Amino acid sequence: MTEEAKNPVLEIDDIQSGVLRPRPAPYVATYIALRIDDRKAGRELMRRVAGVVTSAANPTSPLADTWVSVALTYEGFKALGVPQESLDSFSWEFRQGMAAHAQDLGDTGESAPENWEKPLGTKDVHVIIVAVSPDEGQLETVLERARKSYREMTGIEAIWRQNCHALPTETEPFGFRDGISHPAIEGSGIPGSNPQEQPLKAGEFVLGYADEMGGVQKTVPEVLGRNGTYIVFRKLHQRVAEFRRFLTSNSKSPEDEELMAAKMMGRWRSGAPLARCPFHDDPELGADPHRNNDFLFQEDDPAGFKTPCGSHIRRSNPRDAKIAGMARIHRMIRRGTAYGPPLPDGVLEDDGVDRGLMFAFVGAHLGRQFEFVQSQWINDGVFFGAGDDKDPIAGSNGDGGEFTWTRRPVRKRFQGIPNFVVTRGGEYCFMPGLSALRWLADLRT
Ligand code: HEM
Repeated sequence: MTEEAKNPVLEIDDIQSGVLRPRPAPYVATYIALRIDDRKAGRELMRRVAGVVTSAANPTSPLADTWVSVALTYEGFKALGVPQESLDSFSWEFRQGMAAHAQDLGDTGESAPENWEKPLGTKDVHVIIVAVSPDEGQLETVLERARKSYREMTGIEAIWRQNCHALPTETEPFGFRDGISHPAIEGSGIPGSNPQEQPLKAGEFVLGYADEMGGVQKTVPEVLGRNGTYIVFRKLHQRVAEFRRFLTSNSKSPEDEELMAAKMMGRWRSGAPLARCPFHDDPELGADPHRNNDFLFQEDDPAGFKTPCGSHIRRSNPRDAKIAGMARIHRMIRRGTAYGPPLPDGVLEDDGVDRGLMFAFVGAHLGRQFEFVQSQWINDGVFFGAGDDKDPIAGSNGDGGEFTWTRRPVRKRFQGIPNFVVTRGGEYCFMPGLSALRWLADLRT
């Protein structure tokens, strides 16, 4: 095997920024969904956005933290007139779309597609433009450039928009620091956040490179998929008041409440992992990117006395813990951004305001990464021997969720966990490389 085949260098100047670069902190972000009513206009749009989208190269440029990304749904590819042979070369999950997989993803009842915010989950969403920046001024500048690419064109309609912004607390709406754990990607030059995790093969996150199983995903033609990746967008409404009431009614003191919250998440709200400080919070550790993700589970805490096996972070990445299966092939890059105002401290009644997370997954395998984690790890407990227990934070618990806090001398079991998170909509998208955007622009038939 050649040196290059063993250690592929990613063509980062062809990969969109949003794929590889962690978002800035703090941040503002905007999502805009477009519908293509005219194929030619759609292709012209691709040509124009190719000039606005930045690549993951040049991390030191002053604007490196501000970027526009563009992703297409399967319906979007069809609207551009992508040939059938090419359409068929994309993954089955992508071709079906998120709404079609609602049952498997736990999007039922109030989270079911028929209750989603329109037009999410319909055939109208073709293109999603995302702009991210550390501040409003710069965001507006890049957004204006992106808007110019479609505003004056007939045949392109902006049909949905979601603004996001970091909360003053720099946490997600339940109050936990987020954006901490990221995998390292071989050949990207961008470090991961856990020094104990071996970098993952590039093909786990970008098409056209070898993945952990030795496979290389290729599309027809190859340029269309190469350096691109699948993106999952999910608008997740968070019931903050309900989450707070659950903590209060299951705890004896404010300290107890914080411990309970940490046990459900696997980290204190400061971001400090229970794996490293199981008995009390350590805000300094929580804020230290060199230490706050430097841990494994198996040797130190196989049974989950520190970090419960059912906690959100241990479910969504069991690391080296003994589970049915292999965690490395189910990793993902996350790019979540919060929306809506924070619920003021101490408020326990719902104020009716929509707030939550625009969850964004990045990965080359919708099935064995996003869908597997969502259905088998978040919405099931069999993989670590906990029957049908679901994630206490992000699981579709209905009204009957259960969570076990492993402790001595007796474990503590919580019942009647409601849905703290409701799906308001989502889409499976593909974020093409820059050459692929130009290929789409040049389509002729
Ligand atoms: C509104 C719903 C959700 C909230 C509030 C939430 C919150 C969090 C927080 C606070 C962390 C820890 C900090 C960090 O590492 O960034 C985290 C980690 C993580 N979450 Fe979520 N999350 C949600 C939904 C999801 C979903 C739906 C998935 C996957 C399908 C997911 C996958 C992950 C993963 C993979 C990690 C990293 C685990 C690790 O490596 O330690 N999360 N989440």
